[in-house]
Amino acid sequence: MQTLKFAVLPGDGIGPEVMEVALDVLKKAVETEGIDLDFETADVGGVAIDNQGSALPESTISVCEAADAILFGSVGGPKWESLPPAEQPERAALLPLRKRFKLFANLRPGLLYKELTDASPLKSERIPDGIDLVCVRELTGGIYFGPKETKDLEDGDVEASDTMVYKRSEIERILDVAIASAKTRQGKICSVDKANVLNTSVLWRKTATEYIAAKAPEIELSHMYVDNAAMQMARDPNQFDVLVTENMFGDILSDEMGIVCGSLGMLSSASLGLENNQHGHPFGLYEPSGGTAPDIAGQGIANPCAQILSAALMLRYSFGLASLAEKIENAVKQAVMDGNRTGDIAFGQTSIGTRQMAESIIERL
Ligand code: IPM
Ligand code: MN
Repeated sequence: MQTLKFAVLPGDGIGPEVMEVALDVLKKAVETEGIDLDFETADVGGVAIDNQGSALPESTISVCEAADAILFGSVGGPKWESLPPAEQPERAALLPLRKRFKLFANLRPGLLYKELTDASPLKSERIPDGIDLVCVRELTGGIYFGPKETKDLEDGDVEASDTMVYKRSEIERILDVAIASAKTRQGKICSVDKANVLNTSVLWRKTATEYIAAKAPEIELSHMYVDNAAMQMARDPNQFDVLVTENMFGDILSDEMGIVCGSLGMLSSASLGLENNQHGHPFGLYEPSGGTAPDIAGQGIANPCAQILSAALMLRYSFGLASLAEKIENAVKQAVMDGNRTGDIAFGQTSIGTRQMAESIIERL
């Protein structure tokens, strides 16, 4: 019997309700596979502030340290928005978790089933076969984590700064992730930068060119400035196969990719660590790309697909169970194709709740 040991951090808003059903889907998926789930649940985000006085309590870190992966819900909400920025759940829980577990690579699959092209703000005739690309975002460097300062100047003015810093080695290791992803797809990488303005981007472009030529010459590499990439994403997302970019550009482009692909309720993500777990696969954190959706939290109507698909990514990347991941992904796709839709993807058709959506997926496993 193989045991999968992971931490479950449901967090705030719709986090707990989509997590509950995602775990049911996981349980069903492994039932006949001789696989045992060993997970421990811990507080994170606003709920952790309320219960334990900190968005990322030491006890939660310990639960994560003892695990081989983290299945994450979402954090934040109106209740904690009046806290000083550095204490808010997003900044005080998510960023330290990324740093603590060296989660340097963020993969966001931009996938829109062709049966769901209505969900995209793009005209259906531009995306007749749906959308399929992947955004690989550097996650522990750049302007998020470089030196920051806010200071009062002598003349009474105030000055704030955030510094974008990258080392070649940080760029190379995210390129490795993009290369691995491209090899399982169309073999194309578009590296996004701002090399006409930023030193970090000049280094990024040079490193991408040299590294890919040396390590994976079969990859078709292109470069694009980030402003152009934002425009191209809205014009023709399928021109991209794998996008690779630095932290903040990736933050912005992946949100744009999210809306172009329809509902954030369908978008999963994987943040992979530098170190391997005891299964010999990367430790990782898996979370839906959408937020806590406070407007619909607690009503049982949130789309659980992104959480379920994130659990599938956990099986693939942190536990090496690619075919089991695919089984879940196919069940989600089939359920949606058969017309099972939560409100965010219903378009006037009858919509069903979180639990029913999960049941329709479980039936198809
Ligand atoms: C994301 C989020 C985070 C980020 C925030 C919540 C800190 O927007 O995961 O994309 O900017 O990385
Ligand atoms: Mn973001």
